[in-house]
Amino acid sequence: AGGAVLAVGGGTAAALSSGKQDDDGGEAFATPLAIPPLAEAEVAGGVRSFRLKAGSGLTELLPGVSFRTMGYNGTFLGPTLRAARGETVRVAVTNGLTTATTAHWHGMCLPAAQDGTPHQSISRGETWTAEWTVDQPAATLWYHPHPHGQTEEQVVRGLAGLFLIDEAVDDAGAAGLPSEYGVDDIPLILQDVAVASGGRTEGGRTQAPVGRLGNTVLANGTHQAHFAASTPLLRLRVLNASSARCYNLGLKGGGRLWLVGTDGGLVPDPTALERVLLSPGERAEVLVELAPGADVVLRSFTHELGMGGDEELAGARDEFDLLRISGPAGGVSAGIPASLPAPELSSLPAGPPQGATVRTFNLGEKSINGATMAMDRIDLSVPAGAVELWRVENSSDHAHNFHVHGVQFRVRSVTGKDGAGMAAQLGWKDTVLVRPGESVDLVVPFGKHTDPDVPYMYHCHLLWHEDQGMMGQFTVVDPGSVEPGTETEAPTT
Ligand code: C2O
Ligand code: CU
Repeated sequence: AGGAVLAVGGGTAAALSSGKQDDDGGEAFATPLAIPPLAEAEVAGGVRSFRLKAGSGLTELLPGVSFRTMGYNGTFLGPTLRAARGETVRVAVTNGLTTATTAHWHGMCLPAAQDGTPHQSISRGETWTAEWTVDQPAATLWYHPHPHGQTEEQVVRGLAGLFLIDEAVDDAGAAGLPSEYGVDDIPLILQDVAVASGGRTEGGRTQAPVGRLGNTVLANGTHQAHFAASTPLLRLRVLNASSARCYNLGLKGGGRLWLVGTDGGLVPDPTALERVLLSPGERAEVLVELAPGADVVLRSFTHELGMGGDEELAGARDEFDLLRISGPAGGVSAGIPASLPAPELSSLPAGPPQGATVRTFNLGEKSINGATMAMDRIDLSVPAGAVELWRVENSSDHAHNFHVHGVQFRVRSVTGKDGAGMAAQLGWKDTVLVRPGESVDLVVPFGKHTDPDVPYMYHCHLLWHEDQGMMGQFTVVDPGSVEPGTETEAPTT
């Protein structure tokens, strides 16, 4: 591999075509899957405290090829934070980079001032401390930087980590799911990187219509990863931490993935799916049953997303093996639980309440309702505790997704027809794929944390689009200060 050049998180069209499909079959997939360590926590006075330091360094991501990467408490990716519902969490984040950063808790329902958006910038050498009380169901959330215009660069270089929420302290296994971290409960952070042959150097950022796309996929930073399971039932917590690539997950050679969790928590009814499609920022928890001596491959299959532009560069037709899993020699799976505890899901009405505010978000090429992000413009204000209907329409030529900070929502009435829309409708979501021409209705219950001055964000989670300003800002305010129940339109133009 001596002549290879690795560009973390993306490459030029030439680099991509030369290194195409290098993971597609025939390779070893023998490197043990790295498991991000659980972050050490100090628990005192009812507060669980973590420390994160964003820094940069060299990481050998492929054999013999080291690259300039970024990580938390290390040179690539970050430790897994873990806390229980009801706990107060404090995270001190130190910026050891040469540029400003932030630390955003993606999927967390918390006050806007703790959210780690561009409004909570951390200068070089400084420490920012976020503190909030966890008040949402058990889930696989994540954290990453959110500096205005620099998010793609920092995330694809490796600034990303998982943030797991348990239903209660020491209660991780209560739902009857595999829950021994790194043993049968496996984090899987997917990122694509660009590998070129022939010693060509990386020529700056990719100008694909969707942002940076690589031709090689890493799982927890491991290239061609293998996991030797010691139990016949595995839980995979999959995070798409890529800038623009979607993963259409499935098992090579057949077999089903049992979807047990979406972005914001468990689904009430585990559902067998042939494919689970994850766009950037989305998570899925799936169970895989392993027969004795089984050898299965988790793969990203072809999908037709209509990314637009150069299909080869966009990589919409690429397939990748992601992880080889070998089963234990013996043992019988306890089986897939017939149902899972998801009380809040069942109690949220199937649709928005009568008279709910309806807001429409039109996704353009790189804008929302014709506007791009302005730090000093609040696009809309929502009364605390309101349940609104947000209608997201994609009138552009390529796929986008839509992420809302500070909430978990339900997806209703996707105009598209396939299984991706289906998985999205099974549980809590904070990020949803919206294909060209599609209109997606979201039922969004807003939280109780009000702040008239500090906004949350909504945006496309294709990181280059986000950096280009495909983002808006909203505040959650005292219900007395806005008129509820009126049809409201987000700003046009
Ligand atoms: Cu994961 Cu505003 O982002
Ligand atoms: Cu987009």
